[in-house]
Amino acid sequence: MKRSGDVAGMVRSGGLRVSCLLGLCVALIGGLMVTVFAEDVAPKDLRLFYQKNCAGCHGLDGAARDASGGKLNGQDFTDERWRKESDAGMVKVILGGKFFGWAMPAYKSQLTKDEAQRLVSDVLKKTAKGKAIGPTVQEEVPK
Ligand code: HEC
Repeated sequence: MKRSGDVAGMVRSGGLRVSCLLGLCVALIGGLMVTVFAEDVAPKDLRLFYQKNCAGCHGLDGAARDASGGKLNGQDFTDERWRKESDAGMVKVILGGKFFGWAMPAYKSQLTKDEAQRLVSDVLKKTAKGKAIGPTVQEEVPK
């Protein structure tokens, strides 16, 4: 009697271990799925990326002016002539820099080609003068 009780106990605790492992697997897979899924629904906030990395030379609204209206050294993204140029060269400059990263730094370690492309077509070419590029879409450029 005692032996069979032991066996049952072992089976029970074995069963417990198996279900623990199963729970762990489910948790891990769940975690992975959440990570992959989160990547999908929340891609890198390119507007925030611009605000942090590019505004210093290209201006808060992309017009290459500082708060007091002084000319900054970057490209003016609100210039209509510039907007008509193809995206490819711009993506190349963003990833590789200009004048060997001296005039403009290279961002290939921080942006994928796809992100650089979206930065050009969805952000830079679509901003209105006077509207700050940042996580909040229609923010006014602080005066
Ligand atoms: C240190 C200053 C500096 C920073 C920071 C900077 N740039 Fe530039 N960028 C420049 C300069 C200078 C040019 C060249 C302007 C010109 O040719 O008249 C330029 C040019 C460009 C061009 C135009 C390329 C072309 O051929 O039309 C793009 C697009 C661009 N920058 C995007 C960005 C983006 C996006 C960021 C942030 C991820 C950024 N830049 C950060 C200085 C900077």
